[in-house]
Parts: sequence; structure tokens; C-alpha cells
Amino acid sequence: MKSVLGLAVALVATAVMADEPRYSVGADTFQANCAVCHRANGAGNPGLAPPVIADAPKFAQSAEGRRQLAMTVLYGMYGEITVAERRYNFKMPEFSRFDDATLADVLNHVLFDLAHLDAAVAPLTVEDIARERANAVDGAAVRAHRAAVIAALP
Ligand code: HEC
Repeated sequence: MKSVLGLAVALVATAVMADEPRYSVGADTFQANCAVCHRANGAGNPGLAPPVIADAPKFAQSAEGRRQLAMTVLYGMYGEITVAERRYNFKMPEFSRFDDATLADVLNHVLFDLAHLDAAVAPLTVEDIARERANAVDGAAVRAHRAAVIAALP
């Protein structure tokens, strides 16, 4: 009995280690600020907030898509969007109070830890965020830019 328990503890410990996020600042930031709407695993809440592991990983693969991700966390987004065949129309808050490194890390947590995006794709950088911070837009413009990014997807 005792050894079975020991084995179980060892297995759980291994599972936890395997799940350790690569972007730990981003993981903490996500759990504290984003999971309430997008859920801890990023799968979203039907009717409230979309999954961030569906389209965001596709966006990470083009220059305009990477701008889109930075704009979404800096300025928020509102207006109807469709993600994974479900419609959402609620307000994503803006998170410009976080510094560039934290916002890059939270996006990289979504892309690489939660969505398991191929490591060959370059992570978002502090410069990616800084460039969009210098170019303020509102949440409606972020949604319009999203539509253009979606239209340009292969
Ligand atoms: C109050 C709920 C709420 C919180 C908190 C929230 N979001 Fe969102 N998020 C939304 C909603 C709603 C949308 C879709 C907005 C729309 O319909 O235009 C969204 C959209 C997004 C998208 C775009 C997905 C796509 O397919 O374009 C990303 C990326 C995202 N959120 C990341 C985050 C991150 C990272 C955080 C934390 C720093 C966060 N969200 C916090 C509600 C939230």
C-alpha cells in the first residue's frame, strides 16, 4: 500500500513537472488576469470569451498577425468575432498597464505553453510590444485589423 502511494506521488510530481510553463511570468500573469474569462487552459468560455488557443497561434505566423496579438493585449477588443465556429461579442479589457516584457511573456505563454505552437516559430519580443505601444488604437480598430489578418490567412 505504502509503495503504491509512493508511486502515485512520483507520477503526480512527474506530471506537474512536465506541465511546467516555459514562460513563467506569463503563466502567472495569465492565471491572475486572463483565466477568469479565457479559463486556465485558454480554451475560453462559450458566450463570454473566445479560446485564445484557436486563432492566436495562426496569427503568430505572420507579421500583421503578430501585430494583432500585441494590439489585442495593449488595447483590448470589442465587437463581434467568430472563433472556432462560435460567435463572441463582449469586451476584452486593455492591459497597457503591464510592461512590454510582461505582455510579450503572457502572449508567449498562450502560444507556446497553452497552444503548443511549434518552437520553430519565433516568440514575441519586447520590441514587438513596444512598436504597437507607440501606435495607440482603440478596441474597434483592433477588431477591424483582426478581420484583415483572418482574410490574409493561407
Ligand atoms: C473580462 C473578460 C476577459 C479578460 C479578463 C481577458 N479577456 Fe481576452 N478576450 C475577451 C473577449 C470577450 C475577447 C473577444 C472580444 C471581441 O468579441 O471582440 C477576447 C479576446 C482575446 C484575444 C483574441 C483572440 C482572437 O482570436 O483574436 C486574445 C489573444 C486574448 N483575449 C488574450 C487575453 C489575455 C492574454 C488576457 C489577460 C492579460 C485576457 N485576454 C483577458 C475577454 C477577456
